[in-house]
Amino acid sequence: MLRVAGRARRLPLRVLTTQGRPSPRKVVAYLAGAVLALCSFAAEAVPHLEPQGTTQRLIVNGQPMLLIGGELGNSSSSSATYMAPHWSRLHQMHLNTVLTPVSWELIEPTEGHFDWSSVDSQLEAARANQLKLVILWFGAWKNSMSTYVPAWVKRDQSRFPRAQLPNGQGLDILSAFGTSTRDADKKAFCALLAHLAKVDGRTETVVMMQVENEIGMLPVARDYSAAATAAFQDPVPSALHPRASGDWTHVFGESDATAEMFTAWHYARYVQALVEAGKTIYPLPMYVNVALNAPNRAPGEYPSGGPLPHLIDIWKAGAPGLDFLSPDIYFSNFTDLATRYHRADNPLFIPEANRADKSEVPANAFYAFGKLDSIGFSPFSIESVDTKPPGALVDAYSVLQQLSPAILAARGLGKMSGFRPRVLEDGTVISTPVSEDIGNYRFTVSFIDMWTPVANQTPVNHGGIIIQVGPEDYLIAGQGLIANFAPLGEGPPLAGIDSAWEGTFNSAGAWVPGRLLNGDQTHQGRHIRLAPGEFQIQRVRLYRYR
Ligand code: DGJ
Repeated sequence: MLRVAGRARRLPLRVLTTQGRPSPRKVVAYLAGAVLALCSFAAEAVPHLEPQGTTQRLIVNGQPMLLIGGELGNSSSSSATYMAPHWSRLHQMHLNTVLTPVSWELIEPTEGHFDWSSVDSQLEAARANQLKLVILWFGAWKNSMSTYVPAWVKRDQSRFPRAQLPNGQGLDILSAFGTSTRDADKKAFCALLAHLAKVDGRTETVVMMQVENEIGMLPVARDYSAAATAAFQDPVPSALHPRASGDWTHVFGESDATAEMFTAWHYARYVQALVEAGKTIYPLPMYVNVALNAPNRAPGEYPSGGPLPHLIDIWKAGAPGLDFLSPDIYFSNFTDLATRYHRADNPLFIPEANRADKSEVPANAFYAFGKLDSIGFSPFSIESVDTKPPGALVDAYSVLQQLSPAILAARGLGKMSGFRPRVLEDGTVISTPVSEDIGNYRFTVSFIDMWTPVANQTPVNHGGIIIQVGPEDYLIAGQGLIANFAPLGEGPPLAGIDSAWEGTFNSAGAWVPGRLLNGDQTHQGRHIRLAPGEFQIQRVRLYRYR
């Protein structure tokens, strides 16, 4: 009996000799074929990205998936008991995905001996609650520091060197120039992927991997250890500057900006080593997240060399195996920052979209999915959100879950947009109306509700999405929006409302209409209104006249 993928199979007739005995040559050829078939099956079956119009989509279990997510607090997943009451709540809150840390110290407490209990209990709990997982690999670095490495790494400074200040003092940050650190980190990361391939390859509970967490050097722009300083004198890699000859200072000048580019390049190369090795074992989509920099700060005052907006191209060159770079957005200028990571070569995914209890988070979710084709959206510390009475995030996620099929069908095809007021770095809210062309109509969306006293509304929380689902049919959802419309292209120049229904999608995805909205609800046919304070969906058909 031959074992292929754990299943016993009889050798097929074609590998037998005419005497009915196995022919060694034919058996080898058969096995090679079986392995190849298995590999191609595996590559197709693993969660992966594929192009969709101007963007990419995530395929899980053979179907497109939108990650309506939340990230756990840093220590929550280290205890199955602590997490036990939360998993079902997260499902009830309409999440389909949880971002959860897996730390090096927990899975490899003794070098070379792996303990998968914390991983397996999370897989089991997620599956029992119809949730997918994105695993956050807390390896060498977590928020710049190296506190999640096992004690045998922490305590062996000669084998696992630390980054240093200019005066030679060591930091609680492992040096990116320690090759034994990189190799040990890589080994643990690969062991984790091999374990996932084995225990989760068929179920696909884990849909993506985050490699490390918010990498970046503090409190100086670069590592000053001897190995780092020697590397600073190496020629600038041609991938960064094809015509450059000379070391970093020679090519880019002596400045913190140069030191930061150098830092970014070497962090990216370290990550690439993990990604390259990991993907040969289990090629899940992989990304890094970034702690964004506050304005007017020097590198080192913020984590220097992370995959920051001004360093995206260096990271792309240094870590080409990454599927994307992702912003953690805690600043008020969400729309501007998210837009920086929405590029043809970088589909947007937001692993940390501020703390889950912030009131502007739902509006950001609609904007990220609708305007920037985000693969997923995930506020931080999701298990701490109070669901009784239902909060805004829960209601917004219910609407997004209902709209998922429509969003998935529209992504990257010019059939959808998201709306929310732009907010500047200093918190100034720009609530002037925004226009977007979607299909055959131009929508102009206002964020101030004309029927609610100004003192009773908070426009920074207003937001929504418009999705074209037919030539003149649109789903308009969110809260605190007033949408006006005008026809585009050839034909009668005026637009009216043929019909506007409020309603919901049931669990089978069928539209269940509520009231037919007209009269005061549409201002006698002038506009579509989503009142503040209540997330809702309307199904609207427009028409043209002259
Ligand atoms: C960003 C980090 O990536 C998270 O792990 C967590 O520490 C949050 N900051 C806390 O706000």
